[in-house]
Amino acid sequence: MEFQLTDEHEAVRTTAREFAARRVKPIAAQIDKEARYPKELVDEMAQLGLLGMEVEEAWDGSEFDTISYVIAMEEISAACASTGVIMSVNNSLVCEPLSKWANDEQKERWLKDLARGDKLGCFMLSEPEAGSDAAAQKTVAVRDGDDYLINGTKNWITNGPQADTGVLMCMTDPAAGHRGISSFVVDMNGEGIRRGPKDDKLGIRASHSCQVFFEDHRVSATQRLGQDGDGFKVAMSTLDAGRIGIAAQALGIAQAAFEAAAEYACDRKTFGRRIIDHQAIGFMLADMETEIMAARMLTYRAAWMKSCGKRHSKESAMAKLMASEVANKAAKNAIQVFGGNGYVTEYPVERFYRDAKITEIYEGTSEIQRVVIAASIARR
Ligand code: CAA
Repeated sequence: MEFQLTDEHEAVRTTAREFAARRVKPIAAQIDKEARYPKELVDEMAQLGLLGMEVEEAWDGSEFDTISYVIAMEEISAACASTGVIMSVNNSLVCEPLSKWANDEQKERWLKDLARGDKLGCFMLSEPEAGSDAAAQKTVAVRDGDDYLINGTKNWITNGPQADTGVLMCMTDPAAGHRGISSFVVDMNGEGIRRGPKDDKLGIRASHSCQVFFEDHRVSATQRLGQDGDGFKVAMSTLDAGRIGIAAQALGIAQAAFEAAAEYACDRKTFGRRIIDHQAIGFMLADMETEIMAARMLTYRAAWMKSCGKRHSKESAMAKLMASEVANKAAKNAIQVFGGNGYVTEYPVERFYRDAKITEIYEGTSEIQRVVIAASIARR
């Protein structure tokens, strides 16, 4: 067993950390306050090769392994969790299914632009009545000659307001349940696609999401990923990858909360001592660092399994479950360490607290991660 990161991993960390410190962290509080999408940061991430990190070089990606992707996500998300999820969606929810399910023609037409970051992607699975129960899709694609006509509504679509390209799941055979779901790659600026206003959210406010309405949107059968009926597997295997990205985002938030709390606790004095020297605070920080490291080990292991080509549904679920819960606890306790100062926007920990919550919800709630883990135990 090897716990040593490679030189390439260290180089990715250095690049991402330097970019995050120089460009992301200085504006994170402001873009959160204004709920402003950081287009300039997304363009710079594209130049650094951070938007198609695991895509093969042949399709204009950076061809890094999944641990490199996790490391970069941790660093960007520690500075700004909103910027982290913009990056994560393009990498794991859009480039990933195209890398895995698209044929060469589709990769040429759709994947290359996304991997270079010339275009931005979104992933459209959730609906008003299909969140945790992802198979309950109501959006339908009806065959019309060589085309399909698509009608329905998608919800909470991260990157939706900005996306050029979307990976869409919808029903082609409603009678067949989850086996009647198919997946398509769509041009988000095409006729018959309308986007709602951006959602007004508690956290990750600089990352925008919205509803997307399909009103007789016509796609060619050449835009289908895999065969008719493969859509649920496309979605689930994509989420196996996506959950590693969200675990890494949660790790970034947790680490940032820990660093802020540790620095404050070593500086602030009460009752004649630094507050770190009060056992109540010292133990809180000890637990925080221990739990973050445990979550990191689970996340790196899931990433390693993905890079080895092993099935990693359970490991991804464990990583996301643990990392998201650790992030929420770390952010909550960081506010406690800061006391009143933690509750005001002058310090970053209230943002970490608001940003952490979503990691327990999107790409499968903590309850759904437990369903995935329990199902795997039951199959033994
Ligand atoms: N990989 C490949 N195939 C898989 C799979 C996986 N990880 N998981 C399940 N499948 C297959 C099964 O083998 C089964 O195949 P057969 O038809 O051949 O038997 C089929 O899919 C159905 O499996 P289940 O019976 O387990 O399906 P289910 O309907 O009970 O649902 C679930 C399982 C885990 C609850 C699933 O619905 C789920 O993950 N729900 C959560 C959805 C989710 O995470 N949504 C997030 C939205 S995206 C987002 O949040 C993006 C963002 O904003 C950033």
